Amino acid sequence: MASSRQVVLRAVLASLSVLSARGASGPGNYTFPDGFMFGVATAAYQIEGAWNEDGKGESMWDTYVHAHPEYTPDRSTGDVATDSYHKYMDDVAMVKELGVDYYRMSISWPRLLPNGTDNNINKAAVRYYRKVIKELIKAKIIPVVTLFHWDLPTPLMDLGGWANPQMVNYFRDYARVVFNLFGDVVKTWTTMNELHQHCIYGYGGEYFVPVLKSHGVGEYLCVHYMLLGHAAAYHLYDKEFRPTQKGKIGLTLDAFWAEPKNSSNPDDIEAAERYLQMHLGTFAHPIFSKQGDYPEVVRNRVDKLSLQQGYTRSRLPYFTPEEIISLRGSSDFFGLNHYTSFLMSPSNFEETWAIPSMDSDTGVKLEQDPKWPKPGSDWFSVYPPGFRKIINWITHEYGKEIPIIITENGLTDFGGVKDYARVDYFNEYLSQMLQAMYADGCNIQGYFAWTLMDDFEWKDGYTSKFGLYHVDFDSEEKTRTPKLSAINYREIVRTKKINFNFIKNPTSSTHSNKL
Ligand code: NOJ
Repeated sequence: MASSRQVVLRAVLASLSVLSARGASGPGNYTFPDGFMFGVATAAYQIEGAWNEDGKGESMWDTYVHAHPEYTPDRSTGDVATDSYHKYMDDVAMVKELGVDYYRMSISWPRLLPNGTDNNINKAAVRYYRKVIKELIKAKIIPVVTLFHWDLPTPLMDLGGWANPQMVNYFRDYARVVFNLFGDVVKTWTTMNELHQHCIYGYGGEYFVPVLKSHGVGEYLCVHYMLLGHAAAYHLYDKEFRPTQKGKIGLTLDAFWAEPKNSSNPDDIEAAERYLQMHLGTFAHPIFSKQGDYPEVVRNRVDKLSLQQGYTRSRLPYFTPEEIISLRGSSDFFGLNHYTSFLMSPSNFEETWAIPSMDSDTGVKLEQDPKWPKPGSDWFSVYPPGFRKIINWITHEYGKEIPIIITENGLTDFGGVKDYARVDYFNEYLSQMLQAMYADGCNIQGYFAWTLMDDFEWKDGYTSKFGLYHVDFDSEEKTRTPKLSAINYREIVRTKKINFNFIKNPTSSTHSNKL
């Protein structure tokens, strides 16, 4: 009898032949294949609001931004956000309007389990998520649910959060509650969102909450126990729920593309590869590679530097042989979030690095090409070919068998409904993705635009906008208005093609061929 994993694999292989057959039409003319998953994504803390309503517990984000209003430039919080806790019907109507078949959302762990633990389930939260899911299904939209999109219950953060090995058990307990409650209607799960951003900038640095600043030590504990937590939830689902619920479960990782600063300089090429292994391979290799475990280059560098720095043991924990086996293959798809790219060159020291830290362990300097447009936040430059390249890198590293689902991709700007830059961004990035599918044979099964509407953008508060829909945060109603990018995305989904002339940016002549 075929295992559930083999069944998933067969479906993937079958769809691969469909992709190559339809890709024959040539560059510029590619159409998205039948059954391609078009969606749009959100996350609980960024949209729900109602931070203390109906028995919800506090998340570490609630606690931190209340205590440190200066954390965001506009001294804002997610207390109300887009008020989706009350306005979820509007949200579903917007998803419907876009014409996409899928909606990626997350469940707030502290809304469901106010103490973080499974001894106390908040019934109002159960009712809320069932209503949202029911409304989606009524509108023929398939929910894709993330269990953990960064909003850890504060009582668990007080125990050390993901630096505490016990978190693996608490996460498994939480996952069991969710699968029991919603697994009859939710058939696609991602366990966790962007482990790299969460651990490196939240536990290692001070950019994200919990602002732990445990660089070089806590950040690796977070990586290690999040990976084990993911595997625990995967196996729980695989053994106890999949046989009856028959769904899929995967993981969402984030990756920038690493472009060698000088493509003919071998040192820059090596630096770019090292960066990708450190910042993506650390998370992906244990799960998606044939060998499992952390990549060799990561293991060697952190072990060697730890000893040189006077530590008795490596700052990066070791997996047991059983853990290596349990992690390997523990994801039905590769969920990829991609936004931007950086130029890479080797470096032994940068002013901005803490020592020890993953940055200094990596030994690579990051820059962005001044020619790449920068329509919003500082970290974000537009370089569409980077999307095709990172998809190819993943395919090359981990094989074509593992389906890739783009669980997030989108652009930041400073607002307005005439968001031509975002229209261009989606056109150009999707065009690169189609080339990765058809010209390079990468196995991409779905794409989720980030994000449905302007929301609480973590460190940036409400100053940075990613939405397809504009939200008037000053209005009581949190009025939502479609931007040009929503209209453009709807047209792509409707026609299954990119029409660069559908909405023309009056001030630019960019086109994928020129970038
Ligand atoms: C990835 C995160 O998952 C999401 O929450 C965030 O808003 C986007 N990046 C944009 O920064």
